[in-house]
Amino acid sequence: MPDIDVATQAKKFYEDVPTETPGFFLKGASALDWGMKNRLSRIFNPKTGRTVMFAIDHGYFQGPTTGLERIDLTIVPLMYYADAIMLTRGILRTTVPPALTKPVVLRCSGGPSVLKELSNEELAVDIEDAIRLNAAAITLQVFIGGEFETRSVHNMTRLVDMGMRYGIPTMAVTAVGKDMVRDARYFRLACRICAELGAQLVKTYYIPEGFKTITASCPVPIVMAGGKKIAELDALTMAYKAIQEGASGVDMGRNIFQSDAPEAMMQAIHKVVHEDMKPAEAYELYETLKNQEK
Ligand code: 5RP
Repeated sequence: MPDIDVATQAKKFYEDVPTETPGFFLKGASALDWGMKNRLSRIFNPKTGRTVMFAIDHGYFQGPTTGLERIDLTIVPLMYYADAIMLTRGILRTTVPPALTKPVVLRCSGGPSVLKELSNEELAVDIEDAIRLNAAAITLQVFIGGEFETRSVHNMTRLVDMGMRYGIPTMAVTAVGKDMVRDARYFRLACRICAELGAQLVKTYYIPEGFKTITASCPVPIVMAGGKKIAELDALTMAYKAIQEGASGVDMGRNIFQSDAPEAMMQAIHKVVHEDMKPAEAYELYETLKNQEK
């Protein structure tokens, strides 16, 4: 039996030694096929190696959550500021203009609503439909430590296999149960399992202690999840820290669409992600743009 993280010898993550990326700008992607690299290059800006992904898929288990009541009115205009959009096929087909050429990260898992055990998900989209929708990536939740852990991991490996068949990368989202400890040890475990089992990118949460060890020990790019709405300066600071500590971008929802000035917030996040703008300066930009939005 391998040890379950109880070795007495200290772990070495070499956090300050960047992973080499021979022949292609993204971590862990050198050996992928052309189509997959091309799709990843639509999601991640090849000049910076980073992305601002806009998550608006909450309705797949929460219904019309605050800020997403009328996606046609309040959300579609924001999509033009994002590098990629993460959403369900239902919203994509019904509400997003096909002339919008932003890369689509397609939500492919579902099943339980907020009224039930969330880890009890199944795959909820056929790969053929993802292809029809011109998905740049496919995505699902992985519930490490959750009640239906094995099912969600198996969902992921099946989705990865389907994606591999057609050159579509899979983004695994590490979903944390209410009672789980959100620490570096947990996220290292969850992210690494997703990458080891084939996900080409992983979305996970920022934590103040040890985030660098999570990005260092995950051989594929990590994008930071936004989480519940916090003050704008705090959200910009969190994104800044995640980027500086090795994240290859963000995938944010509520901290953008629940902001007082979502367009301003999106633009400020862009500066943090692609130009390493410091949080205070980005917040100043947010305030300036917010006043112009009025
Ligand atoms: C659900 C998801 C959501 O897309 C995403 O995390 C929600 O975005 P945010 O937390 O930034 O509102 O993957 O777990």
